[in-house]
Amino acid sequence: VSVATEEKMYRPNFHFTPKNGWMNDPNGMFYADGYYHLYYQHYPEKSVWGPMHWGHAISKDLIKWEEQPIALYPEKDKYIFSGSAVVDTQNTSGLGTGKKAPIVAIYTLHDMTKEKGGQIDVEQQDIAYSNDNGFTWQKFEEGNPVVKNPGIRDFRDPKVNWDETHKQWIMVLAAQDRAQFYSSKDLKNWKYLSEFGKNIGAHGGVWECPDFFQIKVKGINETKWVLIQNLNPGGANGGSGTQYFVGDFDGTTFTLESNFAKKVETERAAWLDYGKDNYAGVTWNNVPAADGRRLFIGWMSNWEYAQEVPTQSWRSATTIARELEIIKKGNDYILINNPVKEINKYIGKTIKVKSLKGKGKLAIAEAGKIDFTKAIVNFNIKNLKQDTYTFTLANANGEALTFGIDNTNHYLFLDRSKSGKIDFSDKFASTITKAALEGSQKEGVFKIILDKTSIEIFYNNGEKVITEIFFPNQPYTTLSVSSNNGVELSNVEINQLNIN
Ligand code: FRU
Repeated sequence: VSVATEEKMYRPNFHFTPKNGWMNDPNGMFYADGYYHLYYQHYPEKSVWGPMHWGHAISKDLIKWEEQPIALYPEKDKYIFSGSAVVDTQNTSGLGTGKKAPIVAIYTLHDMTKEKGGQIDVEQQDIAYSNDNGFTWQKFEEGNPVVKNPGIRDFRDPKVNWDETHKQWIMVLAAQDRAQFYSSKDLKNWKYLSEFGKNIGAHGGVWECPDFFQIKVKGINETKWVLIQNLNPGGANGGSGTQYFVGDFDGTTFTLESNFAKKVETERAAWLDYGKDNYAGVTWNNVPAADGRRLFIGWMSNWEYAQEVPTQSWRSATTIARELEIIKKGNDYILINNPVKEINKYIGKTIKVKSLKGKGKLAIAEAGKIDFTKAIVNFNIKNLKQDTYTFTLANANGEALTFGIDNTNHYLFLDRSKSGKIDFSDKFASTITKAALEGSQKEGVFKIILDKTSIEIFYNNGEKVITEIFFPNQPYTTLSVSSNNGVELSNVEINQLNIN
């Protein structure tokens, strides 16, 4: 396809993509002075992975992004891998030179020369700092590395947060098959504290891109600590995936909450997202206390096929920015994630259908007035039986994306095997994505965010989430639902987004 066709068909309306070249993990997100900053693993010259830079984008509302000049460039064979950034409000680092708080970025320096030579100590943690709120950066040449390689080949993706309870900076990083914790007073000198994860949770691949923070449990007077731990491969439905752990932290050691520990004992996991296309997600630093949200964004692709998806001038988008919360349900602590409320500002026309009931294939006729390349679809599905409820988004070409609930075998599903272009990789659509449900459902609440090439399904207010990409040859124009014994939908609301 021509560049023009690709732009028109596949450049998302509102998910961030770099104008040119390759993108993978989101990096170093923070909020300062009216802007949310997003950096990302970037190779500007080709739309495949290569010498890693930190690209940069800013947003006032987490939805509309403006690409900025590249923030960090690699030196020859020294790639700038993933990491994080913090606003050092007290200038604990002493790197601040003016009135503004310095921003300190902590990232992995990956040495390709050492990698090619088969050495172990390929990865170390370096810092860079900015005295203009993240627009320009200096590498901390005189003091790097701040964490040397201890003799572990995969030793990367440092994520730093301020630990207000123990008054220290905490760094979590991925060390092969576990997470390691370090503490610091000044972001330059780091002390090893402890590690977590051996034989706990999913271990189908190497652990990458962790995050670690304290969070209030929604609606009750409790706080917990959450470890987000990406891994590749070994995700919920194959390839790259994001698991999480809930527990407590005494300033040195992370201990799982006892009920949560049972859930994830030996090689079992709790998943932030069950779809194949939400990877390497981590959270924003320095979100104002008055706001108080824990904000997250992920890379909307999967290492199984990211470099082969059918776009040429750029590759990959981010997920919609999301709010993470912990809820307590019975004795279970669950990390839920939902789209940030800022997306609602872009809602234009809304089509409401109070209820829809019937047998066979029910077309949601009103959907014909909607452009599904920028829409939010909400509905409840009621009086669920032992049946399968299949929703179909389709185009005139006979291409379709299907999703729904199998309430006999208790899972949500998403099937993109007929969604359009799929044969660029045999890993792309060879399996149906499933998200196991805890037993039979009586009712299901769905919120679905659609862009040109992505679907993000939030089930029961973000308790189960499925994020995936697709590449139809023309946009989907119809939405229908079917089951064997009849369907009952309520609160159907289709929102057209005014955005691109
Ligand atoms: C995850 C990852 C990170 C690494 C980066 C390199 O997708 O492999 O572990 O820092 O990508 O681009």
